[in-house]
Amino acid sequence: MKYNFTVQKTTTPKVKPDPNTLKFGRAFSDHMFIMDFDRDRGWYDGRIVPYGPISLDPAAAVFHYGQEMFEGMKAYRTPDGRVQLFRPYMNAERTRKTNERMCMPDMDPELFVSAVKAIVDVERDWIPEKEGTSLYLRPFIIASEAFLGVQASNQYMFMIICSPVGPYFDIPGGGIAPTKIYVEEELIRAARGGVGFAKVGGNYGGALKAQEHAAAHGCSQVLWLDANEHSFVEEIGAANAFFMIGDEVITAPLQGTILPGVTRASVIELLKKWGIKISERPLRISEVVKASEDGTLKEIFASGTAAVITPVGELKFRNNALTVGDGGVGPTAQKLYDALYGMQTGTREDDMGWTVEV
Ligand code: PLP
Ligand code: COI
Repeated sequence: MKYNFTVQKTTTPKVKPDPNTLKFGRAFSDHMFIMDFDRDRGWYDGRIVPYGPISLDPAAAVFHYGQEMFEGMKAYRTPDGRVQLFRPYMNAERTRKTNERMCMPDMDPELFVSAVKAIVDVERDWIPEKEGTSLYLRPFIIASEAFLGVQASNQYMFMIICSPVGPYFDIPGGGIAPTKIYVEEELIRAARGGVGFAKVGGNYGGALKAQEHAAAHGCSQVLWLDANEHSFVEEIGAANAFFMIGDEVITAPLQGTILPGVTRASVIELLKKWGIKISERPLRISEVVKASEDGTLKEIFASGTAAVITPVGELKFRNNALTVGDGGVGPTAQKLYDALYGMQTGTREDDMGWTVEV
């Protein structure tokens, strides 16, 4: 391996949470990865240390101007005990794009993936085995220089923490179940030229208000519309959105406002392979409403690392509830879930070459 990291093992290992009651992102493993950056030295001192609080100067730039980024990925255990990642180089490449937009230092994809593999290797025993569970990995970078001037920090910390997780949406018995989604017409997530395509914390802090709107309407997430006209569909919460109208599956194009999801790219490739028509094109919410009225709206689903494939059974738009398909789990969503989740967890052969063993 090109990169080597030091490992300091904990002397007080934690009790692992019960896999039957695992929530998303509540429990953390025994160790974490840390690496520092300084303009003069580049990335240095990659190390695995016991999980715990870190110390930062209160003037650290991340606290004031939000110069930070994060990634989200998972490690899975296969039935024969192997450990694998799903397309980790895509997360590494997205990190480079986010960092470039945020004036944060570039990172060699090999360094990113080596760090992920190193922490997963140390935390092997933390990968739960139960159906629907995995070890969620959260790589992130924060600007750590103590300076209140508004400029790119000269110092950063790259960290990876690990959380054994169950499904992002609570589904009794596992698998997938339809959710309700609220169409947010007032607030927007991202505008062209902004940071919508980058995985930065501000995109999520700014979305909490809309999440409240969704909850007030009995929905679990929002469907975002574009910033200019509040008319074109973009993403569903922290996931990409797909709409099946007639025989065509449609997803928003990458124009700088949505996150280019690893799962999104994989869904597009699988649909193409299966001969299902998939279009990356602007889609008006009015077209979705019309399709629901004339019976051609067959499916809507969200895709993401945390969300995997989450079908949408109902859309709340203005004061109307629109049923999607028959309100249940659509066959395309189910087929995608089975294929992706099967490859990720090694219960299906990975004929796409997407998994990487640790
Ligand atoms: N869109 C947003 C806003 C997200 O936070 C995520 C989650 O990472 C996604 C889409 C899906 O991306 P991925 O499939 O890479 O997890
Ligand atoms: C992911 O799917 O990895 C995400 O980042 C979603 C997260 C914000 C909960």
